[in-house]
Amino acid sequence: MTDLHRHLRARLLAAATDLGLAAEVAEPLLRLDPPKNRDHGDVALGTFQLAKAAGKAPPAIATEIAARITSDPIVESATAAGPFVNFRFRRAALAREVLAAIQGDQAPYGKSRGTGEVVCIDFSSPNIAKPFHIGHMRSTVIGNALCRIHRHRGATVHGINHLGDWGMPFAKMMTAYMRWGNEQELHRSPMRYMFDLYKRYGQEVKQNPALDDEAAAHFRALESGADNQERRMWRLLRDESLKAFQGPYARLGVTFDHVTGESFFEDKMEAAMERVTASGVLEDSDGAQVVWLKELGIKEPCLLRKSDGTTLYHTRDLAAAFYREATFRPARILYVVGAEQKLHFDQLKGVLTKMKEPIAAAVEHVPFGLVLSKTEDGKWEKFASRSGNAVFLDEILDESVAKVRTIIREKNPDLPDPDAVAEQIGVSAIVFNDLKNSRIKDVKFDWESMLNFDGETGPYVQFACARLSSILRKAEAQVPAVDAIDCELLADAERVLLTMMDFGTAVQRAAEQSEPSHVTGHVIALAGEIHSYLRDHYVVGQEPKIRDARLVLVDAARRLLTTGLGLLGIPAPERM
Ligand code: ARG
Repeated sequence: MTDLHRHLRARLLAAATDLGLAAEVAEPLLRLDPPKNRDHGDVALGTFQLAKAAGKAPPAIATEIAARITSDPIVESATAAGPFVNFRFRRAALAREVLAAIQGDQAPYGKSRGTGEVVCIDFSSPNIAKPFHIGHMRSTVIGNALCRIHRHRGATVHGINHLGDWGMPFAKMMTAYMRWGNEQELHRSPMRYMFDLYKRYGQEVKQNPALDDEAAAHFRALESGADNQERRMWRLLRDESLKAFQGPYARLGVTFDHVTGESFFEDKMEAAMERVTASGVLEDSDGAQVVWLKELGIKEPCLLRKSDGTTLYHTRDLAAAFYREATFRPARILYVVGAEQKLHFDQLKGVLTKMKEPIAAAVEHVPFGLVLSKTEDGKWEKFASRSGNAVFLDEILDESVAKVRTIIREKNPDLPDPDAVAEQIGVSAIVFNDLKNSRIKDVKFDWESMLNFDGETGPYVQFACARLSSILRKAEAQVPAVDAIDCELLADAERVLLTMMDFGTAVQRAAEQSEPSHVTGHVIALAGEIHSYLRDHYVVGQEPKIRDARLVLVDAARRLLTTGLGLLGIPAPERM
C-alpha cells in the first residue's frame, strides 16, 4: 500500500463508520484497485461487500461514500459510478508521494518488513537422471520469480528443490549405468551421457522387458537402506547431476534454500505411512495400499505403497508435506509443477484432506502450460530440440546469447563488455518470454518475437532501463531529493506516475494468484509509458527546474523497472 492509498483508506474508514459500519468490519473491505478505465479515476473502490455489510444496495453505498470524501490536499475528487467509487488524486500529491516512496525505497516499491508469513515454494525439481526438461525450465523460472515476489512482500520464503532422485525412474537410469556406463564418460558430460543411457534403456527394454525387473530389484536394494553398490551408484549419479545443474541455475540467477530431493524422505516415509494408517483412511487393494478419494470427486485412488512393499512419488510427497509442516509451519506450500500433474496434486491434497490434516489447506498446485515451438510449416507443437526429445537448458541459453551477441555487433559495435551484456539479455529474453503471459497458457518459443527489441520483450524493458541510465549519465546533475523539486511540474507525467502507483497492486496480485505475469505486465507498461513520455519531454538541456523534476522521474522509473525486473529474476543493464 502506498501513502496515497493509506491516506485514502483512512478517510474511507471514517466515511464507513459514519455510515454505521463497525471499523473492524469495514477495514478489510476497503480494497483500492486500479479502475478498469483510467479516464474514470486513479483508483477505484468496489462497494459490493460493503453494501452487503451495511444492508444497502451497492450504488446507494457508493453515492453515500463519494459524498463523504470531500477534496483535501491529497484527494482531488470522489465520484460514484454505479457500484464503484472512483477517486482522483491531486497531481502534485501523486507525484510527490509516489516519487518520494520510490526514492526512499519504501514498500511496496522497496521490500516490505517481515510479515511473519511463511511460504514454501517447491520448484524446478527435475528428475536428475533424466535431461532437464523444458517444463522444468518453466518451473524454475516461475518458481524463482515467486520466491522473489513473496520475499519482496516480507514473507519468509523457503525455496525448495524437490529433486527426483529416488524411485523407479532413477532405478532405470541406474540399471542402464550399471550395465553400459563408465565413469570417465559420465564425468565428461554428465547430463548428456545420462540422457544417452536413459534413451538406450528405453530402446533396449522394448526387446528385453526383464530390464524393468532388474531396475525394480535395484530399487528394492537401494530402498533397503544397506550400504551396497546401488547406494554408491545413487550417490555418484546424484552428485554428478547436481553439479551439472549448477551451471544453468547460476545463469538464471536461481538459488534454493533447501535441496531436499525425494531421497531425503527415505527415512521419513514409514512415519508418514503410520500416520495415514492411524487416520483410518488407508485401504488394501490387491496387496497394495491406497487411499480412495471418490467422495472428494477424485476417481483414481492414491497409491501409497506397491504390493512389493516399495514406495512411490506420492508417498514421498506426503512425507514431504508433513516434514514441511513440522519444520517451517508454512501458510502456503506452492508446488510449481506442470499442469499434467494436476491429478497427482489433487490426490495429495485429497489424502491430507481426508486425513483431516490442517496442512491440506496450505497445499496449492501452481500449474503451467507447455512450451511450444514452430514447425517448418508454421504450426505450433510441443517443444522438441534437435537432440531428440531432450532439451538441454544450457544449449538453449547459449543459442539465445549468441543471437543477442550478433544483434549487438550490428546495433552497437562499440558497447563495452559486449559478452557480459549479451549473456544478460540473451538469458533474460527467455525468462521474460516465459513469464509474460498467464502461466497456464502455453509459451510460444519463437526467437524472433522473444528477441524483438521493440516488442513486449525482456530486451525491450532492459533497453528502457539502459536508456534511463544513459539520460542520468548525460544530465550532468545529481538527482535531487523529491522535496527539492516542484512537483507541479510533473503534472504532464501523470500516466507514468499512475503506472508506477499500480506496482504494489501488481505485486500483490502476483503473490496471491501465483502469477508473475502481473509483474511482467507492469514492467512492460512502465517501460512503455516512460518511453512515450520521453519522446516529447526532454531532460538534458532543459532549464534547471524542469530538468530536476524530470530527473527525479527518470531515476524513479529506472529504480522501479530494476526492482520489477529483479522480481522476475532479470538484471537491468546500465548500457546495451
Ligand atoms: N520431479 C518431478 C518431475 O520432474 C517434479 C517434482 C515436483 N515436486 C513435487 N513435490 N512433487 O516431474
